[in-house]
Amino acid sequence: MLSKINTLSGYLYEYQKSIANPEDFWDSVAQQFYWRKTWDKVVDWNFDNLDVKWFINGKVNITENIFEKNLFMLGDKPAIIFEANDPNEPTVTLTYRQLYEKVSQFANVLLANGIRKGDRVAIYIPMVPEAAIAMLACARIGAIHSVVFAGFSASSLADRINDAEAKMVITSDGNYRGAKSIEVKAVVDEALETCSSVQKVIVLERTKTPVTMKEGRDIWWHDAIKGVATENKAEEMDSEDMLFILYTSGSTGKPKGVVHTTGGYMVYTAYTFRNVFQYEPQDIFWCTADVGWVTGHSYIVYGPLLNGATVVMFEGVPTYPDVDRFWDVVEKHKVTHLYTAPTAIRALMAYGTEPIQKHDLSSLKVLGSVGEPINEEAWQWYYHHVGKGNCPVVDTWWQTETGGMMMSPLAGITPTKPGYATLPLPGIQPIIVDNEGNELKGNNVEGNLCIKFPWPSMIRTTYGDHERCINTYFRSFKNLYFTGDGVKRDADGYYRILGRVDDVINVSGHRLGTAEVENAINSHPLVLESAVVGYPHDIKGQGIYAYVILDSASQNHEADKIKQSLLTTVTKVIGPIAKPDVIQIVSGLPKTRSGKIMRRILRKVAEGDVSNLGDTSTLLDPSIVDEIVSGAGLKK
Ligand code: PRX
Repeated sequence: MLSKINTLSGYLYEYQKSIANPEDFWDSVAQQFYWRKTWDKVVDWNFDNLDVKWFINGKVNITENIFEKNLFMLGDKPAIIFEANDPNEPTVTLTYRQLYEKVSQFANVLLANGIRKGDRVAIYIPMVPEAAIAMLACARIGAIHSVVFAGFSASSLADRINDAEAKMVITSDGNYRGAKSIEVKAVVDEALETCSSVQKVIVLERTKTPVTMKEGRDIWWHDAIKGVATENKAEEMDSEDMLFILYTSGSTGKPKGVVHTTGGYMVYTAYTFRNVFQYEPQDIFWCTADVGWVTGHSYIVYGPLLNGATVVMFEGVPTYPDVDRFWDVVEKHKVTHLYTAPTAIRALMAYGTEPIQKHDLSSLKVLGSVGEPINEEAWQWYYHHVGKGNCPVVDTWWQTETGGMMMSPLAGITPTKPGYATLPLPGIQPIIVDNEGNELKGNNVEGNLCIKFPWPSMIRTTYGDHERCINTYFRSFKNLYFTGDGVKRDADGYYRILGRVDDVINVSGHRLGTAEVENAINSHPLVLESAVVGYPHDIKGQGIYAYVILDSASQNHEADKIKQSLLTTVTKVIGPIAKPDVIQIVSGLPKTRSGKIMRRILRKVAEGDVSNLGDTSTLLDPSIVDEIVSGAGLKK
């Protein structure tokens, strides 16, 4: 296990050290890992053309740092405790040795099926241990995994497979989620109709849903591993070799493949896991995220396992079979660390404290929050009712692009403040700038959150399109990484994330681009144009509000039927997470003379606050605003 910070003064000292001399600082953290060959230089960087390298010429395999480094000490320690969707299904526990054997065996299966170092493998699988096994098996042989959240539609999956030119897909027959069973393989089959790069599909049997297996392409997982050796010699990777691609939404265009590399990601996720959560060897860590998102990558799989931690992996949903399921899982597995999203907290808050009181939650030591701003009410409920006032809440701010947590209290060390991610972690140098890029110094300031120095797990590129990466993150403000978030630094120097300042919306902790949802809506044959904005939503954090202009042919259809059919289209193009909460049919959109949609007005209407719509005189047709306001049932 890595060394860790134990006191507030220790944090302040370590932070100062990490800023004064980042090279020495990260050198000493990285020394604690097993490298086949150590690095020649700690870091080289240039934000202008985005060329960032960490632990240069270091040779390493991340899975050797999970297994070989730990097996002697940890062989019989549980690595993964699997809690199935159905609480009556027996718990499956994999020790480090068992996990090692399964990963090695599956690595051999990948090799036997033609996968080699550098090949891309798409993983579209529910929350079962095999998801982690598949990821780690890829890392073992140097293949690049691209996990796609199993709630995405066939068309979204196909886009991701094609962008990465994946050679293989790893999936399951079906997926249990609450009372539902989802036909996962059928989605893959549909996606693959438009994916020519895929040569093999490995299918895990999970739900026994009937599936079609394509001769020569599809293989059952259980058949593929039959008689295969459970030892595999790890591939030697350069520190900067790609570890994985993970697609995420931005303001424009299709989701982009965020690329993370091996050495820096390994060092940073392990370091932040140990320090933020203050994880100790006997603790049981439960992160409720899906492995399809970065939180699952960094804090279900890599960060914890690199520290020899025991993680709970949960297949189900918080409210199945009952609304006390989370608390049942905490009690059953004596969870010490619960890491979840504000959306889940708010959803469970709605059922009051009775479901909590039915369970003994005394094992809990630390509570974590991630993915979206946590409102004070949810924070207090989490702290007082779930943690009984004894467990620090770590509000961890970070992003797919950052690879690991960037700002967060260290559990039990940094004094917390509801709604605040508090202070940057060692090695992270935040800077707040105004829209012109001027630094806002001192406290009590609010502006755009940027980072001015590289950190080991930062995004290296967007797969196949380096220019896009530079333009998205490094062109808004010179020599700075722009996060897309607004932030406030208060009188104490504490940071509070205010939410996105670009056209990205965060629905239940899921990140979506407004343009992406608009494109999906626009693909409907009766739609001429649409504009999508986010609005505050009590449970989801943000809801999706769509303004839609219909084609004249729509006059023959009922509005309700059209709206229903729009929801079906969005589900088909992206997935159910992108379904608008509100659809308002309009005859026009508030556009300026240059054709730009004035989204500010649309946001105000969606928020239900039209008392001050600001200057509308530059609009091409100001009367459209009145129509939209009254169509929304509002009065100016
Ligand atoms: O707006 C921020 C919000 O989620 C965005 C990143 O989304 P994604 O890449 O999907 O990663 C989510 C999990 C790390 C950020 O730009 N966000 C994330 N964590 C927080 C947050 N907003 C406020 N507080 C947080 N703790």
